[in-house]
Amino acid sequence: MNEPQIRQATARDVNELVELEKLSFVSDKITKRQFKYLINQGKARILLAELDGKTIGYAILLTPTTSKRSRLYSIAVKSSYRGRGIGRAIIGKVIGIAAALEYEELSLEVRKSDLNTIKIYEEEGFRILKELPGYYEDGTDGIRMVRGITKRDLGDLKSRHSLLGRLFFGIKAGRGAA
Ligand SMILES: CC(C)(COP(=O)(O)OP(=O)(O)OC[C@H]1O[C@@H](n2cnc3c(N)ncnc32)[C@H](O)[C@@H]1OP(=O)(O)O)[C@@H](O)C(=O)NCCC(=O)NCCS
Repeated sequence: MNEPQIRQATARDVNELVELEKLSFVSDKITKRQFKYLINQGKARILLAELDGKTIGYAILLTPTTSKRSRLYSIAVKSSYRGRGIGRAIIGKVIGIAAALEYEELSLEVRKSDLNTIKIYEEEGFRILKELPGYYEDGTDGIRMVRGITKRDLGDLKSRHSLLGRLFFGIKAGRGAA
């Protein structure tokens, strides 16, 4: 398999994102209108994973200007590509971007029953912060997890010449404007 490429999503990717969202979640689905808003209003970064020109995964990082805590709002990998490390790769890049934007924490919510995903997050350094009874639209319980972010999390974003480095240096100027 070729290596998936991860880049920032643009307004042109919205239809692909909506399709992936429909396939990935049973409730609390992000709509086309919400994706457009997230891309255009500048308070989020959407990463898209592509393989051979096809969208196979994405993540949304919310980047508030008034808080030192960023939020991994959503992440999904197309079912036929799961279990190959793509989800972890996307999480790693989200963490790197949160570090580049100088956030001190990254939080997320996950279904309490989704033990496989909770395990991935724990292995990526997140810890359980609190329980969220009835958090989801279908009434299921959630948990909030959080991870500290430090300069060490910059990882390969440090290199100006790497693809991700270019993404980082492109992004860095953007935060103040958001
Ligand atoms: C959560 C999610 C993004 C993970 O993506 P992924 O590409 O499968 O993640 P990875 O391959 O990096 O890691 C998956 C882990 O589950 C294991 N796994 C094995 N087979 C798997 C399979 N068929 N499907 C998923 N995970 C599998 C992997 O071995 C891996 O663990 P390891 O690294 O210890 O071996 C993906 O499962 C998904 O899109 N789920 C539906 C949407 C969702 O629930 N998002 C999270 C909302 S909080």
